[in-house]
Amino acid sequence: MEQTFLMVKPDGIQRNLTGEIINRFERKGFKLAGAKLMQITDELAKTHYGEHKDKPFFGELVEFITSGPVLAMVFEGENVILTARDMMGKTNPLEAAPGTIRGDYGMTVEKNIIHGSDSPESAEKEISLFFNSSEILDYSKQD
Ligand code: CMP
Repeated sequence: MEQTFLMVKPDGIQRNLTGEIINRFERKGFKLAGAKLMQITDELAKTHYGEHKDKPFFGELVEFITSGPVLAMVFEGENVILTARDMMGKTNPLEAAPGTIRGDYGMTVEKNIIHGSDSPESAEKEISLFFNSSEILDYSKQD
């Protein structure tokens, strides 16, 4: 089953939006397969956001994502990668449609509440960067 990496950023944690965000993905039908409340190190932030290292906002991005705890998660389900991106809305909350997570709660392009993998390749890379295989659980729903 397809899996994606989703992360509630420090602004989402501080604003107590964690439950709301998990709820949206669970109610859609996706299954939580891994979750970790953690403080990202400088090194992990730079690796995770490596593709942005030449962008002018890279320093601010690393500073922000390491400024407080994040909730790293693995969700799974059919087409979860693209569907989760649709549910998150556009990167800039000012452009994100109402009804999406960023459209409803995001404030700025930096404080945009949530990160989600944008392709199967980045999902695989990001999941293995944040989780050991033993931290991703395979369970079936009990009747
Ligand atoms: P994310 O999906 O986590 O991936 C890269 C992040 O860079 C993105 O969300 C934004 O939060 C951030 N970002 C993009 N553009 C800017 C910008 N102009 N200034 C600050 N942060 C940005």
